[in-house]
Amino acid sequence: MNIVSAEFVKSVADLQRCPAGGRPEVALAGRSNVGKSSLLNCLVNRRNLARTSNTPGRTRTLNFYLINNRFYLVDLPGYGYARVPEKMRVGWGPLIEGYLSRRPELRGVIQIVDLRHPPTAQDVQLYQWLKHHHLPAVVVATKADKLSKSQGLRQLLVVRQTLGLTGDDPLIKFSARTREGRDELWRVIEGWIN
Ligand code: GTP
Ligand code: MG
Repeated sequence: MNIVSAEFVKSVADLQRCPAGGRPEVALAGRSNVGKSSLLNCLVNRRNLARTSNTPGRTRTLNFYLINNRFYLVDLPGYGYARVPEKMRVGWGPLIEGYLSRRPELRGVIQIVDLRHPPTAQDVQLYQWLKHHHLPAVVVATKADKLSKSQGLRQLLVVRQTLGLTGDDPLIKFSARTREGRDELWRVIEGWIN
């Protein structure tokens, strides 16, 4: 994908406020601090378009980024971060679930996990939920730069087994640092939005 333009359009805490216009959308989902915003920046060749942080739970709204004036990448709030106030924690589930289940423009979900660790129970739950709702999904195991090549390949199998991926389910080894996996991920996204 040749990136001509990438712009932040809006942050949304209420489904009614998602952008109009009917352009296709691809969402990025994963637990807090896993690297969703970094992956988005890597995809669009921008250092700081989506805000990244060492503080988990930074992204608390649905954030819409318009790419090439043609489709949106949607950065979702991270799940699974225990140290946010209870009130906020319960607020996130319905927003994400509502968006994933009731947004006609949504063409596919990039589910991001950390290659270094086995997927969490919530990762498994999200993946099963996506399958159950017949939403196209690609699993991206990120932070590959933190492992050796052989460790990385071993962990890829752990991710595959823990999430219960079958042979045809796409799984991409990725790093926002080295940009490994970027072209492969773009091919999947292009297949969804075309
Ligand atoms: P929330 O919005 O809080 O849910 O976090 P997020 O999932 O958007 O994560 P973010 O992109 O902010 O990254 C969290 C931390 O992981 C940051 O310190 C990033 O620099 C680091 N990080 C993200 N991707 C990679 C990667 O591929 N390699 C390495 N080494 N670090 C990464
Ligand atoms: Mg983020």
